[in-house]
Amino acid sequence: QCPLRRLLSCPGTVAADLRREEQSSGSAETGSEDRTPKKRFSEVQNERREQAQRTVLIHCPNKIDEKKFLKFLSQHGPINSHFFYESFGLYAVVEFCQKESVTSLQNITRTPSLGPEAAIPFKSRYFNLKLRNSSNQTSELSSIQCSNQSSPSSKKLYQLLCCAESVDDQLNTLLREFQLTEENTRLRYLTCSLIEDVAAAYFPDCAVRPFGSSVNSFGKLGCDLDMFLDLDEIGKFTAQKTSGNFLMEFQVKNVPSERVATQKILSVIGECLDQFGPGCVGVQKILNARCPLVRFSHQASGFQCDLTTNNRIALKSSELLYMYGALDSRVRALAFSVRCWARAHSLTSSIPGAWITNFSLTVMVIFFLQRRSPPILPTLDYLKTLADAEDKCIIEGYNCTFVRDLNRIKPSGNTETLELLLKEFFEYFGNFAFNKNSINIRQGKEQNKPESSPLHIQNPFETSLNVSKNVSQSQLQKFVDLARESAWILHQEGKDRPSPSSNQPWGLAALLLPSVANNVSLSKKKKKPASERIKNLLDSIKSSGAENSTATNGR
Ligand code: CTP
Ligand code: MG
Repeated sequence: QCPLRRLLSCPGTVAADLRREEQSSGSAETGSEDRTPKKRFSEVQNERREQAQRTVLIHCPNKIDEKKFLKFLSQHGPINSHFFYESFGLYAVVEFCQKESVTSLQNITRTPSLGPEAAIPFKSRYFNLKLRNSSNQTSELSSIQCSNQSSPSSKKLYQLLCCAESVDDQLNTLLREFQLTEENTRLRYLTCSLIEDVAAAYFPDCAVRPFGSSVNSFGKLGCDLDMFLDLDEIGKFTAQKTSGNFLMEFQVKNVPSERVATQKILSVIGECLDQFGPGCVGVQKILNARCPLVRFSHQASGFQCDLTTNNRIALKSSELLYMYGALDSRVRALAFSVRCWARAHSLTSSIPGAWITNFSLTVMVIFFLQRRSPPILPTLDYLKTLADAEDKCIIEGYNCTFVRDLNRIKPSGNTETLELLLKEFFEYFGNFAFNKNSINIRQGKEQNKPESSPLHIQNPFETSLNVSKNVSQSQLQKFVDLARESAWILHQEGKDRPSPSSNQPWGLAALLLPSVANNVSLSKKKKKPASERIKNLLDSIKSSGAENSTATNGR
């Protein structure tokens, strides 16, 4: 028996356990349309940032009495929430009700004496808890519940997918399993807040804000943490208008360009993180990139961090993606599946290179959903027409205006199933004229390619930029081949789906199997490229049964 088959076999008991586990931890974010008013991106960011400022991170002994621990901490003020997680040791994230409690805790905390080594003193919010007398504390301890910070193993995922009730259920299951949990999101904001403490040593009014997939609602557990060092509050002229004939300005150092300023700031902060930042390791300054950055690992949280500054447009595109993700429950489910599919077939990678990125894939999903009839998502130009005076936003000369109040956008009347959308996504991009057309979510339609990169996806705000400039022709071809192959598998399955008891991977589980990629490369050795043959087959199916194409009910 093939090892994959064995992996996928889904004996009732395990499957039932897994489903129970999944249901009990189920989040309310997906599956059904949520009619409650949705929060603006800036509201979420501000609330979470404020929450992170009242929060501390504590490295704990492996055995600890949770009750006594909380009692000890609450001497400094009431605790709002806490959770534990494991990452090379046991950690606690503790949110106090008031910021003052953190200061109070810092005041009773000492800098360790390390024997022959020396400590660089820094009063951070990242602590080490030691037991004064470990012998009388460790006996009879009930084990601590740890919050999971990583995505499910492929084995567990396949089992969950094979036990789902329909392809739609599979896509929603995958979303539920991979999306960032509440605890993981808190840990991301806390990590930014801890880095902000270090940066604030130089720039007292700075803010370090997460952006990218940590906040745009498309982040998978384990994704990197993109941070933006925001110095606007310092640069901005906020003082009261003064009357009279005098005008005061700060004496500052001038540098030749904005880019040089960015490089200088990041160079110093990178140095600080490297030399003094508790828990920051492997600091690399990548200052000659188009967007200069400092990359490092935050050991305690386990996040790979990319710190940039002067990158406000990326924060705006995170807000745009957040809006798109919140407009319809199908958007994130589809995007997560496409991203997992791409990862399973090595179309994406954590190493930078000629690969397609998750950001590009998400924009492609948004574009595809704008092209449905009726559209599932509005175009960016339409969102701009809904904007009011307060939404107006120009960054570096680029118009980044769009409506920010989600409740002002009408829900789509489109009722297509996720199963249909997934299949049509693969068909759509399996047949897309990448050689002449560009993907443009601003207008929601193909545009002529302004330059010759194999894949052209217009940056929604910096419209002269191609989001996927790095993608090579061979990587694009691999994407197209796999998309066709996957559309074919879903088509075939629609007609003849294995029964749940047959232990055969089906639907999304079949698409995530590496064997799909192997099939493509194996069949390439035959005369005609597999993807061409599949395309022709798909075309023939479509022309013979166009009326069936929307009949994709769950089972
Ligand atoms: N970005 C961009 N143009 C690019 C690459 C990135 O505007 N060519 C912006 C996007 O706002 C993106 C953010 O930078 O969300 C972070 O980039 P990256 O980490 O590559 O993508 P994520 O969306 O965070 O996805 P992942 O989970 O793969 O990190
Ligand atoms: Mg990222």
